[in-house]
Amino acid sequence: MVDPTHTEAWRALQAHYDEVRDMHMRDLFDEDPARAGRLSSTLGDLLFDYSKNRVTDRSVSLLVELAEECGVRDWIERMFAGDAINATEGRAVLHTALRNRGDRPVMVHDVDVMPDVRRVLEQMRRFAEAVRDGSRAGHTGRAITDVVNIGIGGSDLGPFMVTEALRPYWKEGLRAHFVSNVDGTHLSEVLREVRAETTLFIVASKTFTTQETLTNARSARQWLVERLGSEDAVAKHFVALSTNREAVTAFGIDPDNMFELWDWVGGRYSLWSAIGLSIACVLGMEHFEDLLAGAYEVDEHFRTAPLRENIPVLMALLGVWYGDFFGATSHAVLPYDQYLHRFPAYLQQADMESNGKRTSREGEVVAYGTGPIVWGEPGTNGQHAFFQLLHQGTHLVPCDFIVPAQSQNPLGQHHDILVANCIAQAEALMRGKTEEEARDELRRSGASKDQVVLLAPHKAFPGNRPSNTFMLEKLTPRTLGRLIALYEHKIFVQGVIWNIYSFDQWGVELGKQLAKVVLPELTGQLGEHDSSTQQLIEYYRLHRESVS
Ligand code: F6P
Repeated sequence: MVDPTHTEAWRALQAHYDEVRDMHMRDLFDEDPARAGRLSSTLGDLLFDYSKNRVTDRSVSLLVELAEECGVRDWIERMFAGDAINATEGRAVLHTALRNRGDRPVMVHDVDVMPDVRRVLEQMRRFAEAVRDGSRAGHTGRAITDVVNIGIGGSDLGPFMVTEALRPYWKEGLRAHFVSNVDGTHLSEVLREVRAETTLFIVASKTFTTQETLTNARSARQWLVERLGSEDAVAKHFVALSTNREAVTAFGIDPDNMFELWDWVGGRYSLWSAIGLSIACVLGMEHFEDLLAGAYEVDEHFRTAPLRENIPVLMALLGVWYGDFFGATSHAVLPYDQYLHRFPAYLQQADMESNGKRTSREGEVVAYGTGPIVWGEPGTNGQHAFFQLLHQGTHLVPCDFIVPAQSQNPLGQHHDILVANCIAQAEALMRGKTEEEARDELRRSGASKDQVVLLAPHKAFPGNRPSNTFMLEKLTPRTLGRLIALYEHKIFVQGVIWNIYSFDQWGVELGKQLAKVVLPELTGQLGEHDSSTQQLIEYYRLHRESVS
């Protein structure tokens, strides 16, 4: 266990920070034409350009030393080897086993988990194919046209993000829908779009105890039985994805219609498991397997590449550099691809539920910053919304630009315009515009002396704002698999460096506990609360509608 701030590398980085903090990236690029080539890596068709960061070669070396001193190499091995690195839950962390395309066994408690992984993949293949060719039909014999995934958190965000990202691969005549929110509006709106006879509900819940998912699943079940007039219809229209066979059976889903996952699959790392069944249904198993293959390529890179060339490690170290030395508190993810519109939301859970922690592995409150606030929107929309703050605000927000070279929907000049904007934004953030340049520009445009004085400070950009750019040839199942796995491993490395446990999520429990107390009080006996909580409950009791 290593407190990162007690390492030699951390101390050296602190001194180094004083040397580089006032350097401008514009000068670094001007002085060194080979900078971009040196501070870039490739993986398959993916180009990871991290040259627009406030680093010198020495910064990168010191950051890599930090990773070494914090034992990153050892932790990587421990994760892949199935050690119980999720210590507070006593579990291994093996989403990598789910996409292990090689013949390497993966041992948990001396048992190879790969036969089970392959068995469930085979079960998914048979099921997805049968849904797609119509042989797994509904209660009345009609083929399935709509798949509704009911889940929340990791049982929703991953499959939803992936199916959206890969819409061009959807089978014609088969649509996917996602219901997560316990707000009845979410389910109601989806049910308005589908017909009971041709709808398959996939109840996705690792634990099968999640209040939102079970509430939505019960209401969907009732809706289906009412429409099809028979309880028997449930067997043809409901399947479950879970670790909890007992709870699935108690809910009324035949265990034969259950797809298993295991406690060593974290919820937010589970899209590669049976939780990806909705993906397999609408995209086809071969595309789901391409997704796994892309992630596997990254796993192999992560496991074997030297730290200095290891893309997830570099991504992680840059995040630590900005968070802990420059004081950045957030990180923007900016996909320049409309299909990736749920990618930032997906990463919010992956990153913030993993590294939004303040307790070290030794149980102490840490004295340094950990996981950032992750946010973002697809470009170019963000440019017309929050980019103002990125360029001229007082916060330093490191950005990730993600852009494919080829569009799934080539249309006139659209894609050139999109890519030009992406590249230009990264350049503008880096380069900025001095007040002198702003003054010259104003003079050239014929502005008066007074206007020049008034406007130049507002038209100047500090620049020196860091970003990574990920360019890929095209967004495909394989390239998406790569992208997701890169971020997963980045998050893992950061957790290791920050000396926190990235794979539990105790911080979600208190709210759940209190909701269980508040729920009966909304209609029954009122308990003891602070005056604000009391007031809110009383307001609701006064104004709520009674539902039959
Ligand atoms: O409450 C948080 C959480 O446990 C997430 O970690 C998880 O992805 C989500 O709830 C859903 O859990 P489940 O798949 O067990 O329903």
